[in-house]
Amino acid sequence: MQQTGDYTIRPFKLDDLVNVARLYLSFYDERNNVAMGKGLARKRPSLGALLQSFVWRYADEEKGNTIASVAEVNGKLVGECMISCAWPNSEMDHIGELDVAVHRDYRGRGIGTALVRDAIKRSKKRFTLIQTYVMTSNTASKKLLEKSGFKLSGSIPRRLRRNGKYHKDYLMYLEL
Ligand SMILES: CC(C)(COP(=O)(O)OP(=O)(O)OC[C@H]1O[C@@H](n2cnc3c(N)ncnc32)[C@H](O)[C@@H]1OP(=O)(O)O)[C@@H](O)C(=O)NCCC(=O)NCCS
Repeated sequence: MQQTGDYTIRPFKLDDLVNVARLYLSFYDERNNVAMGKGLARKRPSLGALLQSFVWRYADEEKGNTIASVAEVNGKLVGECMISCAWPNSEMDHIGELDVAVHRDYRGRGIGTALVRDAIKRSKKRFTLIQTYVMTSNTASKKLLEKSGFKLSGSIPRRLRRNGKYHKDYLMYLEL
């Protein structure tokens, strides 16, 4: 556990699942923000449906295929970073896909950076390459990843289609 300023970074526990799902639901209120860098389902899911879709990803922690860290402020879960193996038991099982998110009310105070650093540190025994896609409009995320050592590999047009408009993504990677 890492206490920095007014927030705490710690490993994800299965008990956090409902609060992580609630955090993800809050991103649906930001769909019109061009910098909201998550690919969202077309229709806002129910909490139950979202929870179901997360269970397998987080249950994978027990098998060592997912490393996840969460951030808390005064006991409230406000951010998460997950690095998970997209292709277990394959010739690409050394690759971790990174996903990071902080609730909009808690951004800009270093929580995203602290989450990514913690998850990377804990991933070193499991992965040798971490990759992620970042919307080119997502300045905060690109800056955060570059600060954490990620390199830019290139860009992919039309990776996200939101409100009828295509968005370009950067592919970023970190060799561990
Ligand atoms: C990307 C995200 C996780 C960053 O979280 P955060 O807690 O605000 O990050 P930090 O406070 O650690 O800031 C990281 C860097 O981005 C910069 N930054 C923060 N918000 C910014 C903004 N709106 N515009 C430009 N830069 C910004 C910060 O200044 C900081 O750089 P610095 O240390 O050089 O000052 C957060 O914005 C988020 O959850 N966005 C929605 C989900 C998302 O897009 N996830 C990324 C998917 S790859």
